[in-house]
Amino acid sequence: MTYRDKTESGNSETNTPRHLLDNNLAWATSIKEKEPDFFSKLSQQQTPEYLWIGCSDSRVPVNQIIDLMPGQVFVHRNIANVIVQSDLNSLSVIQYAVDVLKVKHIIVCGHYGCGGIAAAIEDKEHGLIDNWLQHIKNVIRVHSDELKKLKGDTLHKRLCELNVIEQVINICNTTIVKCAWKRGANLNVNGWIYSLENGLIHDLNIQIGSTSDLKQKLDSF
Ligand code: CO
Repeated sequence: MTYRDKTESGNSETNTPRHLLDNNLAWATSIKEKEPDFFSKLSQQQTPEYLWIGCSDSRVPVNQIIDLMPGQVFVHRNIANVIVQSDLNSLSVIQYAVDVLKVKHIIVCGHYGCGGIAAAIEDKEHGLIDNWLQHIKNVIRVHSDELKKLKGDTLHKRLCELNVIEQVINICNTTIVKCAWKRGANLNVNGWIYSLENGLIHDLNIQIGSTSDLKQKLDSF
C-alpha cells in the first residue's frame, strides 16, 4: 500500500516527493507490527537521556549512526555544530534539554570532511554564511600556534576536532549548564567526532561534568 492509497488524497499534479511519504508509511507500519503501542506510548512523553549537537550534513543522521529509536535523543543541528552564547535557537534547545528533560549527557559530535570547517579555512568569500563561519575562524585564531604547523587534510581534521572541543567549552560556559552543575545535576558534556569514511565515532576524550572539571580542562590547554 502506498501513501496515496492510504489517504486517497493523492494529486499527481503536485511535486510532493511522495516516495518519502510511502517510506514513512512503511516505516511506521513496521514499527507498529513489532510494538503496537509504540507511538501511542511515545506521544504521551519524551524522556531522552542525551542531547546531541551535530552538523546539519546529510551524511551524519544522528538516530541512525548511534542506533537510537524515536524518543531517545534530543537533537540540535547546525552548520559545523557551533554553539555561541548569542544564538537564542541553540540556547533554547540546551535549556529545554537540561532544565526540563534533564538529559544526563550533552554530546557535541563534529565530523571529518565538514564543509563548514573547510570553508572557514579557505581564504574566500561565501556571503552571509561567513558571519557564522567567523565562529570557526575564531577557533583557528585561538589555536593558531598548533594549526599554523599543519596543512591540507591534517589541518582540516585537526580543526574539526578543535572546533568540537571549543564548542564543548562554550556549552559548559553557558549559564544553563553552570546553573545545572550548581544545583548538583548529573550532567556531562562530551566531545566526539564522526568519520564519513568508515561510519565510526571517535571519542575526543573531553568529558566535562562540573565547574572544577572545566577549570582543570581549561588549565590544560
Ligand atoms: Co559538517
